[in-house]
Amino acid sequence: MVLLFAFIASAQAQFKTPSASAVASAHPIATAAGHETLAAGGNAFDAAIAVSATLAVVEPAGSGIGGGGFWLLHRAKDNFQTMVDGRERAPLAAQRDMYLDNNGTIIKGLSMTGPLAAGIPGEPAALVHIAEKYGRLPLSKSLAPAIRVARDGFAVDERYRKLAGFRLKQMQKDSETAAIFLHNNEAPAVGHIIKQTDLASTLEAIATSGRAGFYSGEVAKKLVEGVRKAGGIWSQQDLDQYQVVERQPIYGEYNGIRITSAAPPSSGGIALVTMLNILSGFDLDKMDETTRTHTIVEAMRRAYRDRAEFLGDPDFIDIPTDKLSHPFYADGLRNSIRLDRATASNNLPGVVQNSAGQDTTHFSILDQEGNRVAATLSINYPFGATFTPAGTGVLLNNEMDDFSAKPGTPNAYGLVGAEANAIAPGKRPLSSMSPTFLETNDRLAILGTPGGSRIITMVLLGALEFSANKPVTDWVSRDRFHHQFLPDSIQFETGTLTETQQQQLKSLGHELKAINRKYGNMQAILWHKASNQVAAASDPRGNGTADIYKH
Ligand code: DON
Repeated sequence: MVLLFAFIASAQAQFKTPSASAVASAHPIATAAGHETLAAGGNAFDAAIAVSATLAVVEPAGSGIGGGGFWLLHRAKDNFQTMVDGRERAPLAAQRDMYLDNNGTIIKGLSMTGPLAAGIPGEPAALVHIAEKYGRLPLSKSLAPAIRVARDGFAVDERYRKLAGFRLKQMQKDSETAAIFLHNNEAPAVGHIIKQTDLASTLEAIATSGRAGFYSGEVAKKLVEGVRKAGGIWSQQDLDQYQVVERQPIYGEYNGIRITSAAPPSSGGIALVTMLNILSGFDLDKMDETTRTHTIVEAMRRAYRDRAEFLGDPDFIDIPTDKLSHPFYADGLRNSIRLDRATASNNLPGVVQNSAGQDTTHFSILDQEGNRVAATLSINYPFGATFTPAGTGVLLNNEMDDFSAKPGTPNAYGLVGAEANAIAPGKRPLSSMSPTFLETNDRLAILGTPGGSRIITMVLLGALEFSANKPVTDWVSRDRFHHQFLPDSIQFETGTLTETQQQQLKSLGHELKAINRKYGNMQAILWHKASNQVAAASDPRGNGTADIYKH
């Protein structure tokens, strides 16, 4: 008997290394850069550097070396997992009320546009850190594709044109930004070639001098001078002090799936685990569609309430992580859910939020050794602060808007926060970016998406697809709905809920808000370890590509 079991166990043994590598990113040129780097002998971490830097060049609306992000890494040889936190920090001269006037009212636009909106960038430090600690190739190799594309140029696509149109007025206010990213001061036409010679030189400085290429020397001088000349508050000390932090990811479990996701200062991992813990007490498969949607929405509502109240930069506040991600805690939250009635957010104790989400970017990588990267990177709003310090090519982020500028007042994503996410010098703003791994004995998922406050609920819906054993193309394309506690309404994409379902949800007491467009841009990889098949998919809402390679 024992022998028979042993035989069955080994017959079901999992493949230890994937039959192929895969890269899924929001732009074909970035996906190709990942492949080029793997083909040159790099591992998934080198490829992640190449994809990050190339996205900075070809998808400047979404992320860049003037911004930051979270790189979730898994090293195959010892199963080590970590999150590289390259989130922006508030400048040392930042003040809690810096976006308020004398009456305590928010000054419109100050945290969104121009140098005061920009946190100290973390992406350059993160790329250098990943290369030194996890990569196999020198930065001169892994940054080469990005430098080449910055110099030679890339063709504007429809998405770029639209996003430039969306921020046109603000982009026109900064001549440097307009000269690089617009054409004749207007949103460039599809096919127009954008060349970024200053950015190429800045990337070259990083390739040659590592961190010093950005945070000290000529580039740093131009960054600080440019920011201060335009009314900003950066200093050389800010750049000197910027540090990447490695954080232990958030772990959880749902129906036999091991969840690995982003730790604070992202709210993603904790909220995802809370929602899945709540949902693990329901048999979603047995529910009709309306009850299922209602139940998922109630889980979302409760997790986002906690987000607003408890989450922020863990280096500044104490976060009750163990409690919030504990199944017993979720039991309590679940008990307050009624299947026949929506819980009004006002009746839940707590503060909070709303949403938008036009940009940011996510990519997923698996190499043939089994190393994995899920990375979500951002300069926040499309084209960030729409401000580029002269001579650097570095378009700055407007991540300062992710702070709670005034407790209880919504930010660009309608998110409201509390003291936990108040502005302080050197503090990292709370994020929703949720790069995630999901793993069972025979399957592994690498996924994530942009989308502001809706990121976490998109990853939740993707995780439920994975749990239902759906193909990877379904995770990225499924219709989406969202609830974030405040505003107290179910937001949904066109086509997500039938008329009947909408009526049924309303009769349960839900308010509905049609978004009237599609949102998100999920990039995902599935490794079926039992059959050793690798599959990948890019969200059909975007222009990305997901490719599988055998070396
Ligand atoms: O860190 C965050 O949560 C936001 N800055 C992400 C912004 C975003 O995803 C925008 N767009 N789709």
